[in-house]
Amino acid sequence: MKSSIGMTVTEHMLAKQRENPEATGAFTRLLSELIVAAKIIAREVNKAGIADILGYAGRENVQGEEVQKLDEFANRTIIERMGHIGQLCVIASEEDADIIQIPPQYPKGNYVLIYDPLDGSSNIDVNVSIGTIFSIHRKITSDENGTLSDVLQPGYRQVAAGYFLYGSSTIMVYTTGQGVHGFTLLPGIGEFLLTHENIRIPERGTIFSVNETYYNYWSAEVQRLVNYFKAPDTKPAYTARYVGSLVSDFHRNLLKGGIFMYPADTRDPKKPHGKLRLMCEASPLAFVVREAGGYASNGEKPILEIEPEELHQRVPLFIGSKEDVELAERYVRGEMN
Ligand code: AHG
Ligand code: MN
Ligand code: MN
Repeated sequence: MKSSIGMTVTEHMLAKQRENPEATGAFTRLLSELIVAAKIIAREVNKAGIADILGYAGRENVQGEEVQKLDEFANRTIIERMGHIGQLCVIASEEDADIIQIPPQYPKGNYVLIYDPLDGSSNIDVNVSIGTIFSIHRKITSDENGTLSDVLQPGYRQVAAGYFLYGSSTIMVYTTGQGVHGFTLLPGIGEFLLTHENIRIPERGTIFSVNETYYNYWSAEVQRLVNYFKAPDTKPAYTARYVGSLVSDFHRNLLKGGIFMYPADTRDPKKPHGKLRLMCEASPLAFVVREAGGYASNGEKPILEIEPEELHQRVPLFIGSKEDVELAERYVRGEMN
């Protein structure tokens, strides 16, 4: 019987660290702690129906959305684990209105962590895959305590990004700018093992993912784009897949090819740019998909080049196979009749 269980994510990170002469190990320490937080979240997700951790927490978050107990648990777990390790100068969470300072009694570091503690929350109670999305930047201000300026950096400056997906198995996908690599949690041993080395997304896919409920709220250009994906004479034909968890829809399209879209819509004048958040959803996944040979756009320009203006700003998102997203841009710009 094979004795080795294959390469663990820690071995993989250390190997990447050795390729980086000026690496100090601080980043490896940071990601290792985030992995512990994810394992704790995964354990709760896997027994959510048993422990009284399903359902609503009885309050709304900064997004004006009902907070689920598991949202709160995931958020608290990450803050508690990451706050004291001495690698971060500031934290920003989808669930918190303002940036989260590192408590004075803890050492500070040179990295910034931005995350969505639980993505796809509406799927928690129905056992559909959910996930955690993370983005890591370097500190750019001089004070040891990070500020909003350290958080509001454009996506092309990220040093790492990725996600954990709590599904039929628990997986981790991340990039540090040296390719995209996937790991699967081996139950019983509690180690993430390398299962998808150097993931590459197909140039063009046959899957499009969008919530067509909002069709009547989209621009005519976006309506024409989605009609193209559905048209019987479009060859090769596309098929529709939409889970309602961005991280699940993204991961499927990353492996199989395809495009996920959350266009701007006119439903809510307070949210003219759609529902998804730049800092903790679009930007990290844009880094991952670019490193896998794909592309992410707001319909006009690359997500990674957007200069953030506020912490929870939303952006329209077209992300996935390069050819599909570039086609989407041509439609959104009105270049396709
Ligand atoms: P979150 O649970 O972090 O708020 O994210 C939910 C997002 C995203 O996961 C998903 O793609 C999208 O909401 C689904 O929105 P609709 O239900 O409007 O399609
Ligand atoms: Mn989300
Ligand atoms: Mn969330």
